[in-house]
Amino acid sequence: MTIVSATYLISSPDYQQCPKADRPEYAFIGRSNVGKSSLINMLCNNRKLAKTSGTPGKTQMINHFSVESISVNKSSAQWYIVDLPGYGFAKVSQQQRARWEKMTEGYLRKRENLVNVFVLVDSRHAPQKADLDFVNRLGEWEVPFSIVFTKSDKTTQAEVSRNVRSFLNVMRSTWQFLPAHFITSAVKQSGRDK
Ligand code: GTP
Ligand code: MG
Repeated sequence: MTIVSATYLISSPDYQQCPKADRPEYAFIGRSNVGKSSLINMLCNNRKLAKTSGTPGKTQMINHFSVESISVNKSSAQWYIVDLPGYGFAKVSQQQRARWEKMTEGYLRKRENLVNVFVLVDSRHAPQKADLDFVNRLGEWEVPFSIVFTKSDKTTQAEVSRNVRSFLNVMRSTWQFLPAHFITSAVKQSGRDK
């Protein structure tokens, strides 16, 4: 599959105001600063598509991007990519946190065309409670998801493998089946084809 075009569409404060649910949708979520916007840009081959930043908390709303792709048999498809705000950012008020929770929970549970959620996890760290709590909540809500271990260029391959293994091992203690997972680097453009 090749992405032929990707354009920013709209930012919405809640799921009710999102674009018409008339095509498949794939959302990206994870801790603040984990690399969601960078991964979207890498996948779409456009560095300026989603706003990235060294300051956590850059993405605040539900951001829709309209994507057109062509498959190997030349049939084209239209779908949405969604960039969501990050969780686990310490410097936000209780009020902002509550707003985030309400917005994302509403979106994740009610958005009818949502096909899959990609949960991004920083590959440099041992399993973090915020990420494990989040995937467990997706399980309770019966929202399908995959895990993307990001920033793999920032540490050694051995460290990445160790962190991926331990994250999946912690999940194994409560989950019967493990989700698909990917290892990526937006800098090296690795993991893009998979
Ligand atoms: P918020 O929207 O604020 O939650 O952040 P985000 O998850 O969208 O992260 P963003 O893509 O803005 O990236 C945060 C920082 O990490 C930026 O400085 C990026 O350049 C950097 N970054 C993202 N992905 C990678 C990666 O694969 N490798 C390296 N080395 N840096 C990365
Ligand atoms: Mg972002």
